[in-house]
Amino acid sequence: MCGIVGYIGAKEAAPLLIDGLKRLEYRGYDSAGIAVFDGKDINMVKAKGKLSILDERIDKQGMPKGALGIGHTRWATHGKPSDINAHPHNDCSGDFVVVHNGIIENYKELREMLKAKGHTFNTECDTEVVAHLIEEYYDGDLAEAVKKMLAELRGSFALGIISKKEPDKIIGARKDSPLIAGIGSGENFIASDIPAILPHTRDIYILEDGEMVVLTDNKIDIMNFQGDRVEKKVFHVDWDAVSAEKGGYPHFMLKEIHEQPKALKDTMTGRIDINGVRIKLDDITITREDVSRIDKINIVACGTAYHAGIIGKYTIERLARIPVEVDIASEYRYRDPMVDKNTLVIIISQSGETADTLAALREARKRGARILAITNVVGSSVAREARDVLYTWAGPEIAVASTKAYTTQLVSLCMLALDLGIKKGTLSREEALEIMKHLKQLPAQAETILKNEEEIKRLAEKYSAWEDVFFIGRGLDYAVAMEGSLKLKEISYVHAEAYAAGELKHGTLALVVDGVPVIALATQDFLYEKMMSNIEEVKARGGIVIALVKENDKAMTNIADHIIPIPQTLSLLTPVLTVIPLQLLAYYTAAARGCDIDKPRNLAKSVTVE
Ligand code: AGP
Repeated sequence: MCGIVGYIGAKEAAPLLIDGLKRLEYRGYDSAGIAVFDGKDINMVKAKGKLSILDERIDKQGMPKGALGIGHTRWATHGKPSDINAHPHNDCSGDFVVVHNGIIENYKELREMLKAKGHTFNTECDTEVVAHLIEEYYDGDLAEAVKKMLAELRGSFALGIISKKEPDKIIGARKDSPLIAGIGSGENFIASDIPAILPHTRDIYILEDGEMVVLTDNKIDIMNFQGDRVEKKVFHVDWDAVSAEKGGYPHFMLKEIHEQPKALKDTMTGRIDINGVRIKLDDITITREDVSRIDKINIVACGTAYHAGIIGKYTIERLARIPVEVDIASEYRYRDPMVDKNTLVIIISQSGETADTLAALREARKRGARILAITNVVGSSVAREARDVLYTWAGPEIAVASTKAYTTQLVSLCMLALDLGIKKGTLSREEALEIMKHLKQLPAQAETILKNEEEIKRLAEKYSAWEDVFFIGRGLDYAVAMEGSLKLKEISYVHAEAYAAGELKHGTLALVVDGVPVIALATQDFLYEKMMSNIEEVKARGGIVIALVKENDKAMTNIADHIIPIPQTLSLLTPVLTVIPLQLLAYYTAAARGCDIDKPRNLAKSVTVE
């Protein structure tokens, strides 16, 4: 999730671009850059690191002059954070310069095609192909060249394009990544998000997928990718700057909960080949021979990432039939783990900087294990020290409470399990295909759950005074119950515990008396009857049951006090969906209790100390 900004008008572009990027820094910050047309050339300044580094470089080199420019702050997906990989990117001639937010799925094929035509590439970035394609197709009409380029792209993109050939315009295009056009007076703007242009205008056009925009200093034309004109209503922004950063949501956590459908889709982009029934994990170099030698897998992580690891255990053992142990990192590193060259250690970390997780990685590597990292930050310590990396493409996760990172970790673990199972031969083509098809439905199903938000908000507000809550489940539901209880604990400060439902009678049931709320997860078909009897045990003692069950479940309606329906999918994939109502339940409980949701007391987003 990167930040884009563009300006055309009568003022100096560079200062406006830098200020706009600063207002988008929450969208990504591992590198940044601007490109400005000075009347003769397009001058670029780019820098790895936070925007302040770019500021320093501009101070040294001097502010680029000119009234036409584009800028970008990056959250890397392809190509590590570096000066050269920072956007903007240009073609061979330097005549065409682009900034991009998204993932060009077919960039490798396009790169090879363009190289064969004589184009030379300078970066590892998928975006660079866009500039070379425009160069390839330019024949005196920039908009026409852009349309031809767009026809070649697969994946997600929001683009900003300028050219020395036609310095009276900026062109933008949108598919799956947000892009807006800001309406000024004698000037116009493009941006990924509203905060970037709020100081200049509150009147914008919001582009939809498949639309492109051509801006001059006094005209904005919007059309579809085929060139057909599109009439748009002006959207007037009445948010203040702070709420604009959160996309109009009151907290980053709620924004990130709602970003999950897109985060899931992005994370699976280009990695699930339904036709070939294969998984394409570019940064994973584990071969069939390697898989045949792996006799054990350790999954190691902290907090929410650890809860994802427990789901990963079930999934990998089920699909690849390799024994998996899951450990909390701070415990793993001191338990003298039995690890050798035939052990695959999967390190999960959203930030890639958690001290205990990093220490566990080093301990496992020292003992000869092969390290595979699942992380959300390109170039993070965990990513750099692992042999293989599987990136989640969730975009920056700002709220301390992890949400979209968790669900994208789950689909990443499932894709890895599929890849291992296919390579090991423990998974039939039909089984793999069925799981792949259901994986692809998850983003839309997550959207369906989010539409039920008001009902969950009412439930949370009804029980927001609760002080002790139990989450119970069996199998995968038990693992999700752990994550649900952590969410509630860490942002609403309610004492919550997750229990294997079968354990109730071994002690916990003593605490279930009149009015005690129990959140029961009963989505696993083969465990449903058992869960039903556990819920009846709770009800018999006066507990209040909120049951999460697959939609169209009739039996539970007569037993539970409240039902939260989960769309039908494979039991193996249900955790990706079941956790979303629990995230919302925690969020609205914390909101009702007036807690500091994005920054809960005593907690940090990345625990870089032991
Ligand atoms: C989750 O909501 C918490 N913020 C915390 O448990 C977090 O998951 C844990 O600190 C691990 O962080 P990481 O994924 O960045 O390593």
